[in-house]
Amino acid sequence: MSRSWTVLELLRWTSEHFASKGIETARLDAECLLAHALGTTRLKLYVEFEKPVLEEERARFRELVRRRAAERVPVSQLLGEKEFWSLPFQVTPDVLTPRPDTETLVEAALALAPETEAPLRILDLGTGSGAIALSLATERPKAHVVAIDTSEAALQIAAQNADRLRLSDRVRFAAGDLFEPVRGEEFDLVVSNPPYLARAEAAGLPPELAHEPEAALFAGDDGFAVLAPLVDQVGEVLAPGGAFAVEAGSEQVEAVAERCRRVGLEAVEVRRDLARQPRVVVARRGES
Ligand SMILES: C[S@@+](CC[C@H](N)C(=O)[O-])C[C@H]1O[C@@H](n2cnc3c(N)ncnc32)[C@H](O)[C@@H]1O
Repeated sequence: MSRSWTVLELLRWTSEHFASKGIETARLDAECLLAHALGTTRLKLYVEFEKPVLEEERARFRELVRRRAAERVPVSQLLGEKEFWSLPFQVTPDVLTPRPDTETLVEAALALAPETEAPLRILDLGTGSGAIALSLATERPKAHVVAIDTSEAALQIAAQNADRLRLSDRVRFAAGDLFEPVRGEEFDLVVSNPPYLARAEAAGLPPELAHEPEAALFAGDDGFAVLAPLVDQVGEVLAPGGAFAVEAGSEQVEAVAERCRRVGLEAVEVRRDLARQPRVVVARRGES
């Protein structure tokens, strides 16, 4: 008979195992996966350190640990969920796992678009899990949001997330390239976290990214294949005085800001993320 393991022993063993495989967040990952296998929370693990773990719970945990260490599946996909803007988002291999840095974009967008008498019209281009669109819809309870993506599979997940958050009546999902599904419409706020990695960067990236959709990560040889037409065309769907906020790589932000000025957008500014890196460009269409 195999010996019994306590919560603490499993955590220690797994943290060391993950660290030996080069996983930087070894202890955190071990805690998240063990909590998931036991059907509890990370916080509760701390008062259950001495509790023995049942064999069937351990078998569930072992499989999660194997997939994390050997296949480098991101924790978010193993749990099927990621918190963003304090909201729960379902995550699958069809959507990018929402990143904490993208909360900078949500914050910047909210500052640009206070609630108004007439419902705000918001557009999220490249919605993925719906993280940005649904966070904005939560913060602006009268707003109507359109969320576009080229990926039908991503839109299905985003729609399920909208259902779970009871936002489906104010969020419309549309499949298509860039602004094509909303030609002729106008928005008070346009936001986007488009793919912005250059193909050439692929080799040096963390192995976890192989589990995320390519279309969510890569944008041509230079990383501007979506950002460039996005900035060039955004004026066509912005209402007069409408606001624009877009995320980009820290080394791309200046070029994006310059492009915004070139296409005639006003009040162009850069916002920094939690690590103080330039991350988001904000701008406005003039009033005329
Ligand atoms: C970086 S992910 C962002 C997902 C989500 N908004 C977030 O911040 O977590 C980019 C998303 O844009 C979508 N996308 C890529 N190219 C697009 C295009 N030309 N038009 C519309 N959506 C596009 C991808 O399918 C992906 O879901």
